[in-house]
Amino acid sequence: MVEQRFGEGHRVLVSGGAGFVPSHVVDALLGRGCEVVAVDNFVTGSPANVAHQADNPKFTLVKADVSEGLPADLGGRFDAVLHMASPASPTDFALLPVEILKVGSYGTFHLLDRALQDRARFLMASTSEAYGDPLVHPQPETYWGNVNPIGVRSVYDEAKRFSEAAVMAYRRFHGVDTAIVRIFNTYGPRMRPNDGRAIPTFISQALRGEPVTVHGSGRQTRSICFVDDLVRGILALLDSGESGPINCGTEHEMTMRELAERIVALSGSQSEIIFTERGSDDPERRRPDLTQARTKLGYEPAVGPDEGLLATIEYFRSHA
Ligand SMILES: NC(=O)c1ccc[n+]([C@@H]2O[C@H](COP(=O)([O-])OP(=O)(O)OC[C@H]3O[C@@H](n4cnc5c(N)ncnc54)[C@H](O)[C@@H]3O)[C@@H](O)[C@H]2O)c1
Repeated sequence: MVEQRFGEGHRVLVSGGAGFVPSHVVDALLGRGCEVVAVDNFVTGSPANVAHQADNPKFTLVKADVSEGLPADLGGRFDAVLHMASPASPTDFALLPVEILKVGSYGTFHLLDRALQDRARFLMASTSEAYGDPLVHPQPETYWGNVNPIGVRSVYDEAKRFSEAAVMAYRRFHGVDTAIVRIFNTYGPRMRPNDGRAIPTFISQALRGEPVTVHGSGRQTRSICFVDDLVRGILALLDSGESGPINCGTEHEMTMRELAERIVALSGSQSEIIFTERGSDDPERRRPDLTQARTKLGYEPAVGPDEGLLATIEYFRSHA
């Protein structure tokens, strides 16, 4: 187990703090007594995700595009800087390609510069997409990946790989205390129903009684992680002295067809499952090797797929 390092008396900057995963990280940091400043341009996130913190005197939400630089009025020194801003769904790869490249490059530099200036711990939200369509299974952090550098997914994959390189350069050259987490497919409340990722799409379709659209044959796999597990992993990495990259996710690997069937059953839906065209470079198999997370962070995912999916279905039902 990693001892808690950040809590009462610490100031934390979270880029993308009004997004799905980052808003849960914000909640957890505030729950520990940290003062949190979230900077977000709401391109894929929403103030609604943190509206329940609006009256919390320790929370500030600032609207700004971190690719353009950080606002001057963010207050005093930060003890930790978490760079979590980036559109992240395949739909975003097609609609926001340049924004994704900018936030992974310019945005990363702006946040790294602030961490350098403040002598803050810096954590970057990277992704399993850094492994591309992996030729090694499961994926350990030592695997360098199989990424098409000019394909439709490259704007995201390469932006995150560039971002990792920038983080490591600031660590080696400037001595910034950095950490990289490689996040595997995470889901839960506050995802956008129409964001294009499989779980919110399947749940929305199942709840409306529409056909559930699985890409390709549905034999491609993902290992799905409930957001509460990921947040524990991210905070453990933040508290630790580890630099990573460290995988975070679960070993609940299943095919997209199984996932669709499970969601239809758990929603009590009568939806049929249909198969549609599959996007190019879509990874065939994905499962994290969690050895490093276990041994270095004491991380162990606790939420099973049925429990997590039911909680997410309930959220979508009540927010329809
Ligand atoms: N959810 C996952 O399965 C997953 C997997 C791997 C990596 N990640 C990473 O975790 C982070 C959060 O992802 P998410 O799934 O919560 O997505 P999300 O889209 O809900 O959150 C991203 C947030 O960043 C904000 N943002 C984007 N560009 C910005 C900019 N230029 N300036 C300020 N704010 C900006 C968005 O408005 C949004 O609130 C991302 O960095 C993503 O790449 C997520």
